[in-house]
Amino acid sequence: MAHFGEPLFEGKNMETTCRHVAIIMDGNGRWAKKQDKQRTFGHLSGSENVRNIALAANKLNIKVLTLYAFSTENWKRPMEEVDYLMKLPEVFFNRFMDELMREGIKIMAIGDLSKFPPNTQRVLLNAIDRTKNNSGLILNFAMNYGGRDEIIRAVNAIANEVRLGTLDIIDETVFESFLMTSGLPPVDLMIRTSGEQRISNFLLWQLAYSELVFTDVSWPDFKEDDLVQALKVFENRSRRFGGL
Ligand code: IPE
Ligand code: IPE
Ligand code: MG
Repeated sequence: MAHFGEPLFEGKNMETTCRHVAIIMDGNGRWAKKQDKQRTFGHLSGSENVRNIALAANKLNIKVLTLYAFSTENWKRPMEEVDYLMKLPEVFFNRFMDELMREGIKIMAIGDLSKFPPNTQRVLLNAIDRTKNNSGLILNFAMNYGGRDEIIRAVNAIANEVRLGTLDIIDETVFESFLMTSGLPPVDLMIRTSGEQRISNFLLWQLAYSELVFTDVSWPDFKEDDLVQALKVFENRSRRFGGL
């Protein structure tokens, strides 16, 4: 067991017990505005940073990186910004797909993808299919994802099975198997960038016992060292899960 203040890791050669990191990638808009640029410029820079942090997480042997890219509430934004965000995955995969493939990264997605333009869906499904046998980091994008939406979908699917008589006992394990994150390890660490300290409908069930780290750094400025820093904080936390 590590003690607080003890130097745990030597920079980039660190090892971590953290298997699943989830990040609310917040602050793109404010980051761009600070430089008198459009909010969309912040989103583009943010997507470039997804590549950087995914490569870093892969190198650090983290098993899963779940990134909140678009929430079920983000539809409330101006149409122009929503349109840009809907097409950004295509730009991202066209630029970085080959590199992610070379690094052995496996792409996954959670959320209702059916609302994305057909081309975005096609590029994303292709990325998922092309990388399905990779054994490196699972890079899981939460797209048009909402924790409440996920829970309601699970409840409906369970109700349907009960009606059909194919399911009778519903416990935590069964319920979890109906969530979009089914099969992934529990979220150990949740990081939110850019100063806000709230969950914003991200992984409501899954965050029950995650360690939470909030940083003032904007997502486009969040670098490998910031990830390492958050992992150090994680390693120094004492996780009790209700015990002693
Ligand atoms: C996060 O950055 C990206 C998305 C929600 C898509 P924001 O766009 O929320 O940036 P701020 O919080 O307005 O600065
Ligand atoms: C959460 O950020 C959603 C994503 C990062 C995709 P928001 O910027 O939408 O959250 P609020 O509105 O500040 O709660
Ligand atoms: Mg925001």
